Amino acid sequence: MAAPYRSGRQLLLLLVPLLRAVEPHSQPGWPVPYRRFDYRPKSDPYCQARYTFCPTGSPIPIMKDEDVIEVYRLQAPVWEFKYGGLLGHLKIMHDAVGFRSSLTGRNYTMEWYELFQLGNCTFPHLRPNIDAPFWCNQGAACFYEGIDDAHWKENGTLILMTAITGIMFNQMAKWVKYDNDTGIYYETWTVRASPDQQSVVWFESYECSKFVLRTYQKLSDLGAVFNNIQTNYTTITLFSGEPIYLGNETSIFGPPGNRTMAEALRDFYSPFKPPRAVKEFFWNLLKIIDRVILQQRFYLFYNLEYWFLPMKSPYIKITYEEIPLPNRNKSGFGL
Ligand SMILES: *[C@@H]1O[C@H](CO)[C@@H](O)[C@H](O)[C@H]1NC(C)=O
Ligand SMILES: *[C@@H]1O[C@H](CO)[C@@H](O)[C@H](O)[C@H]1NC(C)=O
Ligand SMILES: *[C@@H]1O[C@H](CO)[C@@H](O)[C@H](O)[C@H]1NC(C)=O
Ligand SMILES: *[C@@H]1O[C@H](CO)[C@@H](O)[C@H](O)[C@H]1NC(C)=O
Ligand SMILES: *[C@@H]1O[C@H](CO)[C@@H](O)[C@H](O)[C@H]1NC(C)=O
Ligand SMILES: *[C@@H]1O[C@H](CO)[C@@H](O)[C@H](O)[C@H]1NC(C)=O
Ligand SMILES: *[C@@H]1O[C@H](CO)[C@@H](O)[C@H](O)[C@H]1NC(C)=O
Ligand SMILES: *[C@@H]1O[C@H](CO)[C@@H](O)[C@H](O)[C@H]1NC(C)=O
Repeated sequence: MAAPYRSGRQLLLLLVPLLRAVEPHSQPGWPVPYRRFDYRPKSDPYCQARYTFCPTGSPIPIMKDEDVIEVYRLQAPVWEFKYGGLLGHLKIMHDAVGFRSSLTGRNYTMEWYELFQLGNCTFPHLRPNIDAPFWCNQGAACFYEGIDDAHWKENGTLILMTAITGIMFNQMAKWVKYDNDTGIYYETWTVRASPDQQSVVWFESYECSKFVLRTYQKLSDLGAVFNNIQTNYTTITLFSGEPIYLGNETSIFGPPGNRTMAEALRDFYSPFKPPRAVKEFFWNLLKIIDRVILQQRFYLFYNLEYWFLPMKSPYIKITYEEIPLPNRNKSGFGL
């Protein structure tokens, strides 16, 4: 369709009154930006990982400038899910990135995941004598030597995406450090107004696939040119009307807090103890869906703040959809 305006200036003039009209309401920008912190705090000793986070992790090596590093897309089903009959059919995938140095022949895996597993990132603990729900919800990047080909290939994906120089790899490593030090908390849910692709996104999740997407974007910014492949990711989405801001831990559960609201929050979370097993996670998920559909309420914890979500149909959806690779129209170093 032809552009209805002859010049950008005319368009701008037309927009000015619109912008003015919108200003006084000062709506929060949607989606609510994911908050970055100055540094990563030590996790509370109450939070004890059942499986050590990143057991074979190593610092990211410095590559020689002239090295050629192959970059792989790695994706595999979260295998424990196959034990929940219904859930085996869902495409719930974990994402990672692989690297292989041509000079040394060594390869590496890089991923981002929960320090205390998915359940702890999705449901808080209600502790005796502590009013506020207690969260063990940190996530972090993990880098280790080796790529377990069989694990990724057999029921998932191991595919070459691009090749980069050692210089680009080293620059990426600096960015990973920044990203890992400032993006601290795992966010399970995407929240949007409706399943319509054009609908408003209220909150973006922050989990393994988002880290992989940021890494691809960083590599693209550094000049990487990706092969033409389709890249799908798992998203768990909640559907709600416009979220209502409630406050943070101090303002809700502290002395000046509204007791009714504090009780409503505790009550909402009470059936959902962080599960000890993946199976339990899904039981809790089903319980939460039941509550959410019957009562059309959900309390979201995002950026360490609480929001009320007026839930609406279809309430929750797990999708496996394409998020395309960054534009490949840059000239750069690639295969
Ligand atoms: C979740 O956190 C609790 C409390 O620290 C801990 O006991 C449990 O092991 C954690 N779950 C997993 C799977 O790490
Ligand atoms: C990210 O931070 C965590 C927690 O401090 C640390 O264990 C991990 O090694 C870091 N990852 C990388 C790739 O540096
Ligand atoms: C990574 O290295 C291991 C050990 O040498 C090898 O078995 C595997 O095939 C390599 N994978 C890739 C994708 O380079
Ligand atoms: C791939 O899926 C099959 C069938 O469900 C399973 O038996 C096998 O263990 C899976 N492979 C890996 C590497 O997990
Ligand atoms: C919590 O909210 C209150 C009131 O909005 C604010 O003054 C305080 O700085 C917040 N606390 C944290 C830890 O963000
Ligand atoms: C306290 O919270 C409840 C439930 O969110 C709300 O209905 C009530 O108006 C609040 N009270 C005050 C004084 O803000
Ligand atoms: C990948 O995503 C595209 C578009 O979002 C979809 O049409 C396709 O069916 C998905 N592939 C799989 C294997 O689900
Ligand atoms: C792709 O090329 C167009 C035209 O040169 C440019 O405007 C656009 O910003 C490029 N996209 C990216 C992601 O670089």
